[in-house]
Amino acid sequence: MTAEDKKQLYTFLTTVEDWINGYKNASQDVQFADDIDLSRGFASLGEIAEQVASCKACRLSLNRSLAVPGEGPAGTERIQVVVIGEGPGADEDASGRPFVGKAGQLLDKMLAAISLSRSENCFIANIVKCRPPQNREPSPDEAATCLPFLEAQIALANPLLILALGRTAAQTLLGTPEGITMLRGRFYDYRGIPVLPTYHPSALLRDEALKRPAWEDLKLFRAELDRLISGDR
Ligand code: URA
Repeated sequence: MTAEDKKQLYTFLTTVEDWINGYKNASQDVQFADDIDLSRGFASLGEIAEQVASCKACRLSLNRSLAVPGEGPAGTERIQVVVIGEGPGADEDASGRPFVGKAGQLLDKMLAAISLSRSENCFIANIVKCRPPQNREPSPDEAATCLPFLEAQIALANPLLILALGRTAAQTLLGTPEGITMLRGRFYDYRGIPVLPTYHPSALLRDEALKRPAWEDLKLFRAELDRLISGDR
């Protein structure tokens, strides 16, 4: 199948899917991922945020109020930790900021419990930067299209550690089909940076029983961070 055939098939399938999902702008032209160059280098996290704000690389851009690039401490210093979620929900879509709803409030508490915060030492981002309709999971093609932004954010933040919240974040980042229950609680490698998958705060809000293992993960994360900060690699 040629690239043009693939594009036509993709357009056809997404039009059907958009129609089923009731997209308000389904007929609007989407700028396809291969029409824009997301692979080029970015000079700063601010520059990425600007690009994200106007991105139309996939159909998630059609229904968003605001794109949600991510946020962290100001300045150009290395950021100790990158925290990665799945994608914006309604509160994030309305505000343009990641993790500001109920799950976000819990995330802030979880981070505070191990002396981390988005204002001081954590950059908070998502696999996709625009809200999937009805809070569904991002599709693999949406995640793949958006991933270069996250890859660039991680490269610029250059963190000591990454915390991957939930299945979508862990699977996308690590390129594995394994479930979060199997993945959590151990470090994996992402381009030389240790990644710890743990439960997503939304899952903790749904199921109290997950709070204890999540706390074990957070303690492990803090201990590894302390070890790396002290230079004891
Ligand atoms: N859930 C996520 O995965 N990300 C957010 O930004 C908010 C909720």
